[in-house]
Amino acid sequence: MPRVQQICCIGAGYVGGPTCAVIALKCPHIRVTIVDLNQARIDAWNSPDFNLPIYEPGLEDVVRQARGRNLFFSTDVDKGIRDADLIFVSVNTPTKKSGVGAGFAADLNYVELATRRIAATATSSKIVVEKSTVPCRTAESMRTILDANSKPNARFDILSNPEFLAEGTAIDDLFAPDRVLIGSLQTQEGKEACAALSEVYQNWVPKERILTVGLWSSELSKLAANAMLAQRISSVNALSAICEATGANIAEVAHSIGQDSRIGPKFLRASVGFGGSCFQKDILNLVYLSESLNLKEVAEYWKQVVTMNEYQKRRFSKRVVDTLFNTITGKRIAVLGFAFKADTGDTRESAAITLIRDFQQERALVNIYDPQVESNQIWADLNEASPDVPLETIQRQVSVCSSALEACKNAEAVIIATEWAEFKTIDWQAVYAGMNKPAFVFDGRLLVDADKLRSIGFKVTVIGRGERL
Ligand code: NAI
Repeated sequence: MPRVQQICCIGAGYVGGPTCAVIALKCPHIRVTIVDLNQARIDAWNSPDFNLPIYEPGLEDVVRQARGRNLFFSTDVDKGIRDADLIFVSVNTPTKKSGVGAGFAADLNYVELATRRIAATATSSKIVVEKSTVPCRTAESMRTILDANSKPNARFDILSNPEFLAEGTAIDDLFAPDRVLIGSLQTQEGKEACAALSEVYQNWVPKERILTVGLWSSELSKLAANAMLAQRISSVNALSAICEATGANIAEVAHSIGQDSRIGPKFLRASVGFGGSCFQKDILNLVYLSESLNLKEVAEYWKQVVTMNEYQKRRFSKRVVDTLFNTITGKRIAVLGFAFKADTGDTRESAAITLIRDFQQERALVNIYDPQVESNQIWADLNEASPDVPLETIQRQVSVCSSALEACKNAEAVIIATEWAEFKTIDWQAVYAGMNKPAFVFDGRLLVDADKLRSIGFKVTVIGRGERL
C-alpha cells in the first residue's frame, strides 16, 4: 500500500496551486486538499467556470481533470491538516519590510504561523514538507516548534522539497522536471519520510531525476539555483551596456558564447532587467545569510547581481528620455506588457513597474496594455511604487488600455516591457499610423524585428544594440 494517501498543501498560490494540482492529476489514488486562509483565492480555484486565480498555460486543463475527483480547495486549514499524512508548507516568504534584516532577510512569519497551526491541530504523525523557499536551517526551527507543541502520539518528520518551476511554464516544468530535490535528516526516520515523498513523485518522475540530499543542502540549493540564474541575466545585461556603447550586438554576442557547451544557450537573453517574486528576494536572502555568517565578500559578490539589475532598469528609462530629445514631459508613452515575463499574470517586481514610475517622475503620460494583468493589480502596483503620490494623481497620468493598438494611439514612443508573443504580430503599420511622428519603439526584450519596423518608419532602439537612430 502506498505510504502517502492524503496530502494537504498549505498555501494556494503560484506554487502550491499548480504543484499540488499536478500531484493530484498524476496520483489519482492520493486525495489532495489545497488550503488557504484567503477566501477569495479559494473561491476562484473552486469557480464553476474555472476562472482560476492565476494564469498559467495548461493549468486549467489539469484542474478540470482533477478537481472534485481527488483534488479539493478549501479554507478549512485545520481539517486539511488533520486528514493528511503529508503536508506541504507552500506559503509566501517575502523579503522582510521592517525589523532586523529588513530589506534582505526572508520574512518567515507565514511559515512559522503555518507550522504552529500544524502543531496545534495534528492528532497523528505527519510528514511536513517545506516547499516554500527558505533560508538554510529553517527546517530546524520548524522541527523545534513542532516538537515543543505537538500532542502525544503525533511525531513529525520534516523534509525540504524546494520547487524549481518557472512561472509561465509551470505545468510543463512540473510534468517533466529537470530534477526533484528532497532533503532529509540522515536518520532512519528521515530517510523513510524521504522515501515516502519520493514514492509520490515516482508516479510520473523517473527515479534518477529524484535527488535525495541532506536538509541544509536542499535548502541552500534552491537559493543557489535562483542566484545563479539571476547572475546570468545580470552578466548578459552588463554586457548589453558594453554593446550599446561600442556598436556590438548583444544577440550575436550571447549566441556566440552560448555555443560553448560549458556555458550553454539558456538564460542569455538581454532584457530590461529581471523581475518576479523570487530572484531578487532569494539573492537578498543569500546576501543576508552570508552576512550573518560573517562572509562579507560573499555577500558583496551576490549583492552586485541585484545592483546590476537596478542599473539596467535605470539605464533603459534614461535611454528613453535621452532619445526623446531629453524630455518626455507631457509626452504619451505606450508601455506594452506589465507582467514580469510572458505567459504569466504575475507582476511582482516587474521591471515595467520601475520604468513606469520613472516615466511618471518625468511627468510623461503613460498608456499601459498587458494581455493578462487586471487593471486593479496595475493600480495597486503603481500605488505601492509611489507611496507619496495619491492614486488619483497617478490615474490622471496613467491609463490602462484594452489593446496594444489603443495604448499606442497618439503616443510618441512604444516601450516593449514584456516579451508577450502577441507583440510580435500586432499590426505595426496601424500602430505607426496612429502615433505622433517621429514614432519611436524601444524594445526592452529583443522581441520585434527592428529592421521591419524601421522600414515602416519607426525609430527603433533595441537593448544591447549600439546603432545610431
Ligand atoms: P503566493 O503569495 O502566491 O501564495 C502563498 C499563499 O499562502 C497565499 O495565498 C497566502 O494566502 C497563503 N498563506 C499564507 N500563510 C498561510 C497560512 N498560515 N495558512 C494558509 N494559507 C496561508 O506565493 P507563491 O508564489 O506561491 O510562493 C510560495 C513559496 O514558494 C515562496 O516561498 C516562494 O519563494 C516559493 N517559490 C515561488 C516560485 C514562483 O515562481 N512563484 C517558484 C519556486 C518557489
